[in-house]
Amino acid sequence: MSKINGAKRLRSREWFDNPDNPGMTALYLERYLNYGLTREELQSGKPLIGIAQTGSDLSPCNRHHIELAKRVRDGIVAAGGVPLEFPVHPIQETGKRPTAALDRNLAYLALVELLYGYPLDGVVLTIGCDKTTPALLMAAATVNIPAIALSVGPMLNGWHNGARTGSGTVVWKSRERLAAGEIDYDQFMDVVASSAPSVGYCNTMGTATTMNSLAEALGMQLPGSAAIPAPYRERGQIAYQTGKRIVDMVREDLKPSDIMTREAFENAIVVNSAIGGSTNAPIHLNAIARHLGVSLTVDDWQKVGHHVPLIVNLQPAGEYLGEDYHHAGGVPAVVAELMKAGLLPHPGAMTANGRTIGDNCSAAENLDGKVIHTVANPLRKDAGFINLKGNLFDSAIMKTSVISPEFRDRYLSNPRDPDAFEGVAVVFDGPEDYHGRIEDPSLGLNENTILFMRGAGPVGYPGGAEVVNMQPPAYLLKMGIHSLPCIGDGRQSGTSGSPSILNASPEAAVGGGLALLRTGDWVRIDLRKGTADILVSDDEIKRRRVDLQNEGGYAYPKHQTPWQEIQRSMVDQLSEGMVLKPAVKYQNIAVTSGVPRDN
Ligand code: FES
Ligand code: MG
Repeated sequence: MSKINGAKRLRSREWFDNPDNPGMTALYLERYLNYGLTREELQSGKPLIGIAQTGSDLSPCNRHHIELAKRVRDGIVAAGGVPLEFPVHPIQETGKRPTAALDRNLAYLALVELLYGYPLDGVVLTIGCDKTTPALLMAAATVNIPAIALSVGPMLNGWHNGARTGSGTVVWKSRERLAAGEIDYDQFMDVVASSAPSVGYCNTMGTATTMNSLAEALGMQLPGSAAIPAPYRERGQIAYQTGKRIVDMVREDLKPSDIMTREAFENAIVVNSAIGGSTNAPIHLNAIARHLGVSLTVDDWQKVGHHVPLIVNLQPAGEYLGEDYHHAGGVPAVVAELMKAGLLPHPGAMTANGRTIGDNCSAAENLDGKVIHTVANPLRKDAGFINLKGNLFDSAIMKTSVISPEFRDRYLSNPRDPDAFEGVAVVFDGPEDYHGRIEDPSLGLNENTILFMRGAGPVGYPGGAEVVNMQPPAYLLKMGIHSLPCIGDGRQSGTSGSPSILNASPEAAVGGGLALLRTGDWVRIDLRKGTADILVSDDEIKRRRVDLQNEGGYAYPKHQTPWQEIQRSMVDQLSEGMVLKPAVKYQNIAVTSGVPRDN
């Protein structure tokens, strides 16, 4: 891009101000005038700012962005820009079958085309529900025009009979009570509905609160903005400030690659441990990093994040919910506590407001010590993820912060074999198989059973489904066994408190070790050594692999839509961010590829 008077020529000028080609300029111009924009707005050098709108009736978690966009527009205009709002392919975590994760890369792909192929100088990314945050950050990473994220904010706290009811978490808890006959169907629906009292996304520390907090920790949102509940006035106010700020970011040419550096990702990993973030975070952050060309692996998550304590007391690992998190000070208060203990690795990382994360957060006050603890008085020590490896898979993660006292007593308290357990595998091929057979007494489940879920990865499901946290059968629940170890090549909802072993890569559908596992096999998990193995000989593993090949590989359901087939043909594994492999080579395209040729 050429520079005029030291300032970079805006890419929108290539559309609306190209004297060498008056015919094309007129064609671009006349249609954008047709709803009332003026030549003055489009031709006087004002930055044109996209508002990537993820809200719609199909996406209730993000729907409030339709309102917030009005304040974003006001901010853009106040700072001398021109807002251009457009829709993003909706991704509703709870509504999209077979799984919303299938659509993350579809929304990503489409947004790359929009950001690259239209006259946009910068963009406001309206984030919120689980997959919307990574999809939009991944696209901004690939195109690399100035971008700032605006969270829609969590719902208000849910309440039922005087107790907080948290999104998702209340479902996992109450379905046990329903299965045990303690509540009936209508009571079950009522308690679950109580957890969704307003507009906004999940009020627990699920994947949404996690990813919105990490978007702020990465530096892509204004400080303090992630935790503001959706209906609060501050939410509209931060939307206005976000709109103002993006115009200046365009003038400063402050791009995603200037903000989302390796240092920023390490900060985000540390914050993820401190907040008790979702097991989906490594998938999404690794994906964003890959689109930027930043090296980041699941091993980095353990190395940088495992020793960091859990200090945020939100469900599912703790007690409180989104409003409490905001009142306590949100992400800046968490970062300030980490900084006091010397645990934030890179206080000098740049953020969207043009200041470093350290400058933004060092003086932030922790306003409620029950919700945000100090590092000296954490909820759990060593709260980050462990990356497990063995003949079952090359990588699978476990969120150690949600290991319950019951689980620790039963599985991890043998003094002769600390932090390790062995058990007998019972293998399910997909959630339908699990639901069809789990109550069958002939399976003979007991506390030494390890439940396996396979066929649930990016290729097998397809999309990588949140189905690994499996509930024990009713007869075990009635005996007081509330959780069995669960392992699988799918994902788990961030709102679940199960200490499952997840995101196993490679998945069974591409020939990973899980495809060789048989019900009745003994399996050993060692958290200290970081291993997960089927206890059979290497020769037996080889024999089983030959058998699998002779059967034509691990069987999975046929494609139902064109996108399922396209994505399956090019998607990477969960440990690699589940990215579309051919997309990764396109980096910084607003610069490396210039602007597209004329329309
Ligand atoms: Fe949308 Fe949780 S389902 S944020
Ligand atoms: Mg989810």
